[in-house]
Parts: sequence; structure tokens; C-alpha cells
Amino acid sequence: MSVNPAIDFSGQVALVTGGASGLGEGSAMALARFGAHLVIADQNADNGERVVEAIRALGREALFVATNMMEPEQISAMVASANQHFGRLDILVNNVGGGRPVNFLEQSANSINRHISLNLLSAMHTTQAAAPVMIAGGRGGAIINVASTEALRAAPGYAVYAACKAGLVSFTKTMALELAEHNIRSHALAPDMIETEGLKPLLNAVSPAELAARDRYIPLGRMGTADEFGNIVAFLASEMGAYLNGITLPVDAGATAAAGWFRSPQGKWCLYHG
Ligand SMILES: NC(=O)c1ccc[n+]([C@@H]2O[C@H](COP(=O)([O-])OP(=O)(O)OC[C@H]3O[C@@H](n4cnc5c(N)ncnc54)[C@H](O)[C@@H]3O)[C@@H](O)[C@H]2O)c1
Repeated sequence: MSVNPAIDFSGQVALVTGGASGLGEGSAMALARFGAHLVIADQNADNGERVVEAIRALGREALFVATNMMEPEQISAMVASANQHFGRLDILVNNVGGGRPVNFLEQSANSINRHISLNLLSAMHTTQAAAPVMIAGGRGGAIINVASTEALRAAPGYAVYAACKAGLVSFTKTMALELAEHNIRSHALAPDMIETEGLKPLLNAVSPAELAARDRYIPLGRMGTADEFGNIVAFLASEMGAYLNGITLPVDAGATAAAGWFRSPQGKWCLYHG
């Protein structure tokens, strides 16, 4: 361990699921900026190839593997291709996920299963396929699971999505222990409002007044960017975070800390509004 650690992934290989846009793209680009080669697993080939080109423009190697992350066999094949191409794996970002709003009592069995496949099982299957490659390398590494603020609070209309994200936080803690002997650190991130394509349906469904109110419940007063999210992924995966393991970090500009506190239109913090 260096006395002056740095964020330097030179020679390392990172795999980012759902890496073709949004938080996955932000994570991949940040890891690449700090020296990593990248594997992008996503079902969107156009966006995937675009991200791969952007990574290559930084002078890193990048591989896109078209993958439906809800299919365990495709996940195993994707990790095998990545290993065949690069021969090592140091960082895994289990980022893929998403959900559609629906009242739980009206949610079909098929929709429940799909939410669980995408938001929880995909991370489990990917970890099961990728961790042995990391272990075989003998160099340690980091696994970052992208959960959500919804893992930490209620989420009307997103019951199954939120339960999966809470499951991902629990899974992260157990992996932090089971993989510790290999010096593989596991973390969960809990973003709240980061501007991405995936968040657009949610934002489009609310009125301008509600949108203005949103910036008053976020203490820093604005949504985050995918690049800001990626920087946090890079820090956690790096030697700078070598003594962190098993944490769940809110990436929310203080929204979890606010826990109901709200800035009035006049700028005063209050608990009740209306
Ligand atoms: N954006 C936010 O503010 C926010 C907040 C909380 C949690 N999250 C979580 O962050 C992660 C990324 O969210 P985002 O906002 O960047 O989403 P996004 O919709 O912008 O991007 C998701 C990516 O995943 C890919 N994808 C979706 N389903 C797939 C599948 N079955 N197989 C392979 N690829 C698939 C998409 O093609 C896309 O490239 C998700 O797990 C989401 O739940 C995001």
C-alpha cells in the first residue's frame, strides 16, 4: 500500500453493466479517465458502441458486449468474453436497473419478476460470474452495486423496485464479508436524483411547480450529473478507498440527511409545506 495513494487504474479492467448510458456511462467514463480499460455490457448496441468509442478516444481499450442482463446465460457468456479479451477483471459496477411506476396491488406477476430480474438477480448473477475472475487475478478489487435512495425509504408506486434495491444493499454487505479474504471490497451507492434518460419519465410526469419543489428538498439545490456520480464510483474503487468495505453511500447532495426537511420558496428550512 502506497503512503500517498492515488486514483490510478492503469492496466486495470472494469466491467460496467448498463454502461451504455446514464450512471453506467458516467461510471465507465470516470474509470477510463483514471486509466482503466472497460467492458460495457448493455442491451443497447448503438449507445454501447458510442461509449466504447469515447473510451478509446481517451487511449484506453474498450469492449462492448451486447447482453440482456435479465438472462443469466447471457451474463455468464458476457463475463467469459470479457475475460477472454482482457484476461483480468479488477472492478465490477453492477449498475443496470430501472423500474416503471405501478401500484403494487395492480402489479402483474410478470412485471414483479422482471423488476426482480433486472434490479436484483442481474447483480447476483454478474457477481457470481465475475468475482471468480477477480479472485483468480489475486490483486483484489472492488464491486460497486448501484442501489437507490429507494432502498432506504418508502417508494409509493415502486414497491418491488425499492425492495430489490434494499436487497442489493443487503447483498452488498454479505459480499463485503465473503470476498474480504480476497481483498475485494463491496459497496452500494444510493443515488437519488441524477439526470439521466432513465429518470426522464419520472420528471416528465410532474408539474413545473413540483419540479421547482424538487430542488428545494435537495440541500445542494440541484440534480446531480452522471459525471459526478462516476467520480464517486472511481474514488470508491480506487486505492484512496482501500479501507472502506461494505458501506452504502447516499449520492444525493444531502437529501437522505434532510429526511423530510424542505426549503420553503423563501429559502427557509421547514418540515411542513403547503
Ligand atoms: N438516475 C437516477 O437518479 C437514479 C436514482 C436511483 C437509482 N438509479 C439506478 O441507477 C442505475 C442506472 O440508472 P440510469 O438512470 O442511468 O438509467 P438509464 O435508463 O439512463 O440507463 C440504463 C442503461 O441500462 C440498460 N439496460 C436496461 N435494461 C437492460 C437489460 N435488460 N439488459 C442490458 N441493459 C439494460 C439501458 O440500455 C441503459 O443503457 C439503475 O440501477 C437505477 O435503478 C438511478
